[in-house]
Amino acid sequence: MHERLPPSTSLTDLGKRYWLPVYRPRELVLDHGKGAYIWDTQGRDYVDFGAGIAVNALGHQDPDLIEALIAQVHKLWHASNVFYTEPPLRLAEELVLASGFAERVFLCNSGAEANEAAIKLVRKWAASKGRTPEQRNIITFRGSFHGRTLATVTATAQPKYQEGYEPLPAGFRYLDFNDEAALEAALTAGDIAAVMLEPVQGEGGVLPAAPGFLKRARELCDQHDALLVLDEIQCGMGRTGTLFAHTHENVTPDIVTLAKALGCGFPIGAMLAGPKVDEIMQYGAHGTTFGGNPMAAAVARVALAKLASPAVLMNVERQANALRAGLAHINHELNLFAEVRGRGLMIGAVLADTHKGKAGAILDHAAAHGLLLLQAGPDVLRFVPPLTITDEELAEGLARLHAALSDFAAG
Ligand SMILES: Cc1ncc(COP(=O)(O)O)c(C=O)c1O
Repeated sequence: MHERLPPSTSLTDLGKRYWLPVYRPRELVLDHGKGAYIWDTQGRDYVDFGAGIAVNALGHQDPDLIEALIAQVHKLWHASNVFYTEPPLRLAEELVLASGFAERVFLCNSGAEANEAAIKLVRKWAASKGRTPEQRNIITFRGSFHGRTLATVTATAQPKYQEGYEPLPAGFRYLDFNDEAALEAALTAGDIAAVMLEPVQGEGGVLPAAPGFLKRARELCDQHDALLVLDEIQCGMGRTGTLFAHTHENVTPDIVTLAKALGCGFPIGAMLAGPKVDEIMQYGAHGTTFGGNPMAAAVARVALAKLASPAVLMNVERQANALRAGLAHINHELNLFAEVRGRGLMIGAVLADTHKGKAGAILDHAAAHGLLLLQAGPDVLRFVPPLTITDEELAEGLARLHAALSDFAAG
């Protein structure tokens, strides 16, 4: 028989005792937020340069999101997809119009679920063309991250996420990111149904596709009758300065997946399907209980409208420039980074060789100085603040980063 822990048990100790230990959160408990600031239960404030892993794109407590959610909360929470409700219908139309390529949308609850839908759609499409299961392979790239379900973790071409989960689903081929020659050779084999990639790899180290790589991938997919699937779960929804990251490369995908900032913190995902594939999955082929939940969809409609607005997209460019300038300034003094890379407000500072593996330690210093920061692997600091971050908030975050890195450098 288990007994309740004493009332004096700290919240973090509750987490250590009861959560499946798959996370290692920092020793602080966040309580409330406003804009790009978050406060913990002790009343300490933090500048939020992580935005809940590129989720809170409109910051915390955006009044329009709150209004949309509250209005829906008082109407209807859930009805399932056995019935129509208005918010997901409107959202689907708005996503199709905003995308410029999609014909139809499948709404779901997370990034992994959106990618799982994309993988299934690819397979169904290939099947509809009479291809055998052996001819339905999907190419993904080393350093990618596509989710944690069994299929999406297999699409994720990083062994560390897969170890121990074998047997993994068949039908994935891994190539080096940005290797056009390898992509051409792999597609030439004639057994590839799709190429799936992040226009800017997130978890793998904030690494943008090389200029021209997406275009080449599109050409090769067309030549070899394969689909181009873009995972914009982290880099989409305005993060790179355009609503969709692939717009920079002027490429038309067949499938795009979204999640994270689509709900700005309310869980929702979406798979957008272009004209080659939008009618491949018919009645009964796929589904989800919560996908397109009216509350999530009501929030996402407002998020989409705001994140697509010139005001937000211009702020991305402005603050990206300020953040890069700030990082360059800090690095001039402390010489910690080998490179600063990324696109828009998705920026990675790659640690110099002498500091390799120390991203986690730097995050501890950052938290101690009132800054919430993320890493992308052990060697890269990841900056994905709210897209609405103000000049003052960014300057304060940089000041705290400077203090944290100075501490770290002093050893
Ligand atoms: C590019 C990308 N795809 C998919 C996922 C998985 O999304 P979720 O954690 O919502 O399942 C993530 C999450 O970090 C991601 O960054």
